[in-house]
Amino acid sequence: MRLIRTVVREAVAAGPGIRRLVLMDPEGWPLPRQKPGAHIDLHPPDGLVRAYSLCGDPAQQDRYVVAVKREEAGRGGSLWLHDALEVGAEIGVSLPRCTFPLAPDATRHVFIAGGIGVTPFLSMAAALERAGGNYVLHLLHRGALPLPGHLPRHAVLHDTSAAPRPALADLLGAPAPGLHAYCCGPNGLIEAFEAATRDWPSGQAHVEHFVPPPLPPDPEARPFTLVLARSGASAELPAGAPLLPAIKALGGEVEASCEGGICGACKVRWLEGPPLHRDRVLQPEARREYLMACVAGCAGPRLVLDL
Ligand code: FES
Repeated sequence: MRLIRTVVREAVAAGPGIRRLVLMDPEGWPLPRQKPGAHIDLHPPDGLVRAYSLCGDPAQQDRYVVAVKREEAGRGGSLWLHDALEVGAEIGVSLPRCTFPLAPDATRHVFIAGGIGVTPFLSMAAALERAGGNYVLHLLHRGALPLPGHLPRHAVLHDTSAAPRPALADLLGAPAPGLHAYCCGPNGLIEAFEAATRDWPSGQAHVEHFVPPPLPPDPEARPFTLVLARSGASAELPAGAPLLPAIKALGGEVEASCEGGICGACKVRWLEGPPLHRDRVLQPEARREYLMACVAGCAGPRLVLDL
């Protein structure tokens, strides 16, 4: 796994329970390029890998900026990033991945953000500002603003502690050629967005989860043989057995971060299947070639992976 060494150059409070970190190369070299909407994994020393959207201007190639919400009930990664990580400390990060890109054919972008879900839209808005793109960001927040002072020019604020949540259909307007809608936030907001865009043309509504949605047991799951094509290693997996640990037990190397099908870290090419896809990141055409190993299963008797 390729990790990039970075140093924390700034760490400041930026809204309720939010710490904004600026990470730079230890010697100030440019970092690998980031696309608007991309995210990186942070690798704290305790092994708790966490994905965070990059929320700085992608044109600033000397830094990665992330905003970490303190999750008291989380797995502990955010608490370490809040309480233990100090300015001047080193932390390893992954290469940027972009599973939530700006649609290249869009003529207008409507962003719907819930709270800390605003982060990917900050890099997208910065890129659109630079390119003269047409966008609006609707930020739904409860009380204090996330990342005040870093919100883009065309932001419309909706304080849901002071008024009921606006109807998303009203914020989105009617679908039209060139109009693309995007949503990032809690699962309830994403579900409301998906309901509001159900009749939109295919490919014009985009979502990014920052919390993996619940993954119920798959009633279609069957036992299958897992084969790693390059090493020839194989194993018999019972119905519903998770794929990722089985791959690792056979010596296959796969990165993982969210382990819930939303971050794109564990993408693997499949050669024989077909797989049962249960992720939220791969587009239909990508699924013909790849699966996300943290949530995928197999619909046939054999799953052969390019590992
Ligand atoms: S680890 Fe995030 S999609 Fe699999």
